[in-house]
Amino acid sequence: MRTIAHISDLHFGRIDPPVVEGLARDLAEREPPSLLVCSGDFTQRARGGQYAESARFMRRLPGPQLVVPGNHDIPLYNLVRRFFFPLTRYTRHITHDLRPVHQDEELLVVGINSARAFTWRWKGFWKDGAISEEQLLDVELRAANLPPTVFKVVVTHHPFIPPPGERPHGIVHGAARALDEMEQSGVDMLLAGHLHMGYSGDVRTHFEAVKRSILSVQAGTATSTRRRGEPNAYNWITINPDHVTIEVRAWGGESFRTHTVTHFTRLDGVWNREG
Ligand SMILES: [Fe+2]
Ligand SMILES: [Fe+2]
Repeated sequence: MRTIAHISDLHFGRIDPPVVEGLARDLAEREPPSLLVCSGDFTQRARGGQYAESARFMRRLPGPQLVVPGNHDIPLYNLVRRFFFPLTRYTRHITHDLRPVHQDEELLVVGINSARAFTWRWKGFWKDGAISEEQLLDVELRAANLPPTVFKVVVTHHPFIPPPGERPHGIVHGAARALDEMEQSGVDMLLAGHLHMGYSGDVRTHFEAVKRSILSVQAGTATSTRRRGEPNAYNWITINPDHVTIEVRAWGGESFRTHTVTHFTRLDGVWNREG
């Protein structure tokens, strides 16, 4: 059994201070997770001060930690920084590691940087992300020769499936191709953020051609005031190879509390939501 505390979209520069303190407290009061994952958007505008505050906060949280940058972690208005040094502050303050991996006997977690300073699709210029061939190869190499008993997770900032009932938006470019390759690599679960909404489901609800049932788990914004009709929240994920529980811990005004608990069981290779 393994546990992942999955936080996302902290957005220092636009945070709710009591929520920030509440999140640190909530995580300190629990058994330390096997891994703490942050799926990007540490800052609001990638400024040095915002990064310093965000890094200070991350140091208060339990480890080990695996983190990836988000679109807000690349400067928006400073075009020289945006195009030539997009992640210099991220690597200075948060981590040098842009290809993070966590591995133990039961769990493989690979982080992919899906944030881009520029994508050739005009519609995706500002905030949509992408995954490169090289990054997919990285996942393949990490997962190669690992038995199916090792639960395999990929972390990106940008999501693979839209919230239930919403049209696809903010989805990572090349999602279908990436899923195709992740199917080969035996990936079991995807973790992401970006939309500031928490939800989960099988990627095949949107990508029918994908043969492997892969769980996609989205975290809301943990501490930002830019909420989309949901309280600040994070996911506490418990993993047994064929059973995953996602406990959403949400801000209730004074502390984080259990908001929803969703169980997924894998039967004949297919993830089924229970209840
Ligand atoms: Fe965000
Ligand atoms: Fe984002």
